Amino acid sequence: MHRDVERILFSEEEIRNAVVRIGKQITGDYKGKKPVVIGILKGSFVFMSDLIRETELDCELDFMIAKSYGNAAVSSGIVNIVKDIDMDIAGRDVIVVEDILDTARTLAAVKVHLLEKKPASVKICALLDKVTAVKASDLKADYKGFDIGNEFVVGYGLDYAERYRDLKYIGVLKREIYEH
Ligand code: IMP
Repeated sequence: MHRDVERILFSEEEIRNAVVRIGKQITGDYKGKKPVVIGILKGSFVFMSDLIRETELDCELDFMIAKSYGNAAVSSGIVNIVKDIDMDIAGRDVIVVEDILDTARTLAAVKVHLLEKKPASVKICALLDKVTAVKASDLKADYKGFDIGNEFVVGYGLDYAERYRDLKYIGVLKREIYEH
């Protein structure tokens, strides 16, 4: 285990089982359709790459960058769409893939932004949901890996100040790393 990690929350195997489960759900729900899967960079890239290989669909991919955090472990409250999608999603079924729902502010802003492009549908897929966090929006994930408490987690794509994305598991970061 990495020395900055207090404990492992979800092992490689637990994550894999969740990804397979969500992949099956999405495959069933989108049978005969060709959804556009949009990953919110950077945190979702590991999850998304595993997830699309667990779906049996003729999907297409795109990416967005939406920033609300900077290097702090506390949400700043402002969401900037730093990079928009390149594809035309008018009339398409869209699945947005996100690493974690905290206040849900980021995804609420992303969803509003995408709906302006007149897609046929927009569904949200989040690996983690901080269920006890104060939510800035009533947006809910349509597909979800795990509910977690109000702890700062890293690994499997999730970072603190751009570090720890490469960990194979999801772990709780030691407080001393982000509280100085
Ligand atoms: P929200 O807008 O408050 O829902 O924040 C969502 C974004 O904040 C996520 O996409 C992450 O980039 C970041 N975030 C929130 N909680 C954590 C965490 O525990 N670890 C790492 N990043 C987090």
